[in-house]
Amino acid sequence: MKSVPDQFPKWMNSLRTLIAIGAGGGAIYVAGIITYGFTPYATDVGYMPEQPIPYSHALHAGKLGIDCRYCHNTVEHAASAAIPPTQTCLGCHTNVNAGSQPLSENDNLAPIRESRDTGVPIEWVKIHDLPDYAYFNHSAHVTRGVGCVSCHGRIDRMEVVYQDQPLSMSWCLDCHRNPEQHLRPVDEVTNMEWDPQLATGLSQLELGKQLKLENQINPSTDCSTCHR
Ligand code: HEC
Ligand code: HEC
Ligand code: HEC
Ligand code: HEC
Ligand code: HEC
Repeated sequence: MKSVPDQFPKWMNSLRTLIAIGAGGGAIYVAGIITYGFTPYATDVGYMPEQPIPYSHALHAGKLGIDCRYCHNTVEHAASAAIPPTQTCLGCHTNVNAGSQPLSENDNLAPIRESRDTGVPIEWVKIHDLPDYAYFNHSAHVTRGVGCVSCHGRIDRMEVVYQDQPLSMSWCLDCHRNPEQHLRPVDEVTNMEWDPQLATGLSQLELGKQLKLENQINPSTDCSTCHR
């Protein structure tokens, strides 16, 4: 919960109870939850907080073509995608000392220098943030052929990252019910420009159905998949 942390424990308790009742056969409760849960309720689409450094994905991931996994290097193996440590930036920005960065007139790299010298991580502001009672896992998606672009939009064109999709329960379930609209070959998951028609001659739906069958992809819609 981004803005109402006080309510969090209450939510969690009532959610557990509701799911327990649901599992025990309380059909009315479940129907209520489904109606409620399935409306695109909490959306932060467009949320774009200011970051401590004007770091640009449009430059790094777009123009320079650095693969997402170079920085978000746990995305294929773990639930979380990981924000890169200062060390990853220093790999290229070796010379971040004041005044020695010819292209940076207002010293945009100063926070990197400070973080290097103090050992204190850069305080990036989190953008995508599910409530803690919902479980999400990156590796479960990217290793099955769901591309970053399906959930994050054209990150490679964003000067400042914003939330592109609602991340609501109904949004999750839309795809879990019809994943063929989004499936692609696993080695194309970070390719923002990938186009099914150009790459394979098939429409997204045709290819998606084929991949779903071949790889036996069957996303779960059980409550316990996302609420554990
Ligand atoms: C594919 C994942 C997924 C499944 C399956 C799922 N949920 Fe959710 N659920 C979520 C997410 C994500 C949220 C938080 C959405 C948000 O922030 O608005 C959520 C929110 C909720 C909420 C809070 C109210 C709301 O709408 O925000 C309730 C209650 C809930 N789920 C109950 C259930 C029950 C009962 C089931 C089984 C019938 C279920 N969920 C299945 C992902 C899922
Ligand atoms: C050179 C390193 C680097 C590369 C390459 C990179 N990112 Fe990032 N990414 C970051 C940093 C640093 C942040 C945190 C600052 C920000 O939000 O801009 C971030 C933030 C994000 C966020 C928002 C995280 C949040 O707080 O919710 C998403 C989503 C994301 N990146 C996706 C991608 C995708 C998709 C690609 C590939 C197209 C990519 N990134 C490539 C460094 C990188
Ligand atoms: C693979 C190499 C590479 C990595 C890794 C990398 N950058 Fe860059 N970055 C560049 C290049 C090349 C430029 C464009 C030339 C320049 O301005 O130095 C640039 C430019 C920038 C700029 C604009 C500089 C200005 O003058 O305003 C910022 C800010 C920046 N990077 C921040 C970061 C941060 C923060 C990270 C770590 C999350 C990072 N970079 C990781 C290569 C990289
Ligand atoms: C199926 C949808 C989906 C896909 C595919 C996806 N993400 Fe995410 N991403 C999310 C959600 C949802 C969150 C928020 C997770 C949370 O708050 O627990 C998130 C959060 C992030 C974050 C913030 C750190 C974190 O893990 O919370 C980064 C960085 C990120 N994603 C990068 C990527 C990259 C890079 C790819 C592709 C290799 C990718 N994502 C693919 C849905 C997705
Ligand atoms: C664009 C499509 C898409 C979206 C959006 C999506 N998922 Fe998924 N999800 C999948 C696919 C495909 C799988 C893999 C199914 C398989 O392996 O058979 C999956 C698997 C999962 C798993 C792993 C289940 C397991 O058995 O390990 C979890 C957990 C999950 N999704 C949660 C979420 C949540 C929470 C959201 C919303 C915040 C979400 N998903 C949004 C397509 C999607």
